[in-house]
Amino acid sequence: MVKRTTIHDLRKMKEQGQKIPMLTCYDYTSAKMLDEAGIPLVLVGDSLGMVVLGHDSTLRVTLDMVIHHSAAVARGCSKGLIVIDLPFATYSASDLPLSLNTARRAISEGGAQAVKIEGGRRMAPVIGALVASGIPVMGHIGLTPQSIHMIGGFRVQGRTEEAAKRLVAAAQALERAGAFALVLELVPAPLAEKISKMLSIPTIGIGAGPGCDGQVQVLHDMMGMYDDFLPKHAKRYAHLAGLMRDAATTYAKEVRAGEFPGPEHTFDQDMVLPKGLDAPRPKKKKKRANR
Ligand code: KIV
Repeated sequence: MVKRTTIHDLRKMKEQGQKIPMLTCYDYTSAKMLDEAGIPLVLVGDSLGMVVLGHDSTLRVTLDMVIHHSAAVARGCSKGLIVIDLPFATYSASDLPLSLNTARRAISEGGAQAVKIEGGRRMAPVIGALVASGIPVMGHIGLTPQSIHMIGGFRVQGRTEEAAKRLVAAAQALERAGAFALVLELVPAPLAEKISKMLSIPTIGIGAGPGCDGQVQVLHDMMGMYDDFLPKHAKRYAHLAGLMRDAATTYAKEVRAGEFPGPEHTFDQDMVLPKGLDAPRPKKKKKRANR
């Protein structure tokens, strides 16, 4: 049986100074490729709302949507630990039964092994309740896109002394509550490094510098599939959008020119076609208007 990464493996990786690569993933085919590439941590992120579904934020993503995509990822990923994002307004510190029910559905219907929730100290009780129910939770602090209207824009967090102290306190509170790892998004590199050293759980950075214990990237950014824009924190390792556009253009040209399909893509007939198949199509009778 293939061994899947566990939350304990991630902790060991941190202790041994091994950096942890994490990628987002939203479908079966890509999940298989990430598994083959040895990616130990896979996130079915609510970024799917933007890079797959074309919304302008993650706020339109529903629980049913992430479950649908997570189940596809789970069919293709047998080695990586799958973390599923709980979407906007599907969990809350003031409604623990709602949070538990959301997480339960995400795990049992989405086939993920852990959930991720956004938010600072106020999310500690949610993490505590989920962990007490046997659900591993990854926290997410710094820029939390689900609160974009509270934050007022996609900007680096923790730049002032007060904001930095708030982030440190949040990181410690979420670790105490039982989070197995923490995403740090858009956090100044020196602060992210300090937080990473302070915690025993791994930090996974995105726009948080090299001092984090791991890094996460949005698959469509790093593969160059989503080329509307590239955030500063993202690096393109391929330009699949260009390859796909070129392939589609060539295909269309070949179809129009009658060059595709060729004989190698075409099936022969084993028997002589029965008579009558080439008979002219019967003309359709005109419908009479009902009175
Ligand atoms: O949804 C997502 O892709 C994320 C990552 C940016 C961490 O939450």
